[in-house]
Amino acid sequence: MKKKPLIAGNWKMYKTASEAVTLVQTLKAAVHPVMNVEIVICPPFIALSEVSKVLTDTPIELGAQNMYSAPEGAFTGEISPMMLKDVRCRFVILGHSERRQYFKEDNILIHEKVKTALKYSLVPIVCVGETLEEREGKAHFDVVKTQLDECLGNLEKDDIAKVVIAYEPVWAIGTGKTATPDQAEQMHSYIRRLLNERFGKELGVKVPILYGGSVKPDNARSLMEKPNIDGALVGGASLKAETFAQIVREARMAYESGVNA
Ligand code: 13P
Repeated sequence: MKKKPLIAGNWKMYKTASEAVTLVQTLKAAVHPVMNVEIVICPPFIALSEVSKVLTDTPIELGAQNMYSAPEGAFTGEISPMMLKDVRCRFVILGHSERRQYFKEDNILIHEKVKTALKYSLVPIVCVGETLEEREGKAHFDVVKTQLDECLGNLEKDDIAKVVIAYEPVWAIGTGKTATPDQAEQMHSYIRRLLNERFGKELGVKVPILYGGSVKPDNARSLMEKPNIDGALVGGASLKAETFAQIVREARMAYESGVNA
């Protein structure tokens, strides 16, 4: 059976703290009432505290866009899991392709971060995805398999049930080029198979696999209707309250029509 969709907004390096408060206030009203969908907002670090206050007593969850792998210490410029917990973050995006590309994060570091997040009861949203070159060279399945193997590493079975995976083909991020629902589903079902093989079917089916890359109101529903697409990680379209709310509504309709079918 389809899972309740999870729609996460990754605001990336957009919005000052005061702009973030205005956006989240509008968003809160735009998505009301939140039904049959889980919503996560991931603003920049500096806005987390203020946004968290606006989200008190709402079902909208808060997430961070990154985190360091150590619990605390002399790591200038980094943010710890406890700092995120303190502002009531429940989620943390790890291994986003922009972190991999511009900040040289590799699977080993991402694996350390995943373990730390789990230790501090944060839900890691672990990002995987191939570049255009890798897809054109037909290496996309292998690339994603290696990312998953290395980022999840030797996780305990109990832990995998607390992880969210996001498949974000790099060529679809911010380009307006979405993977077609069939292309995305092909990769999602492959990821599902890998999870089932590794952790057993009972746990594998529980892991939400989100799609990210140019998700917009007009393509959200056809993506969300696919059996192994459990939600979306939305970049650009999450920066406008009404657009994001529309994606949330499309995801909910896809879910409800699946449940009632
Ligand atoms: P866009 O939705 O802007 O393509 O970004 C996707 C993304 O990177 C979300 O993490």
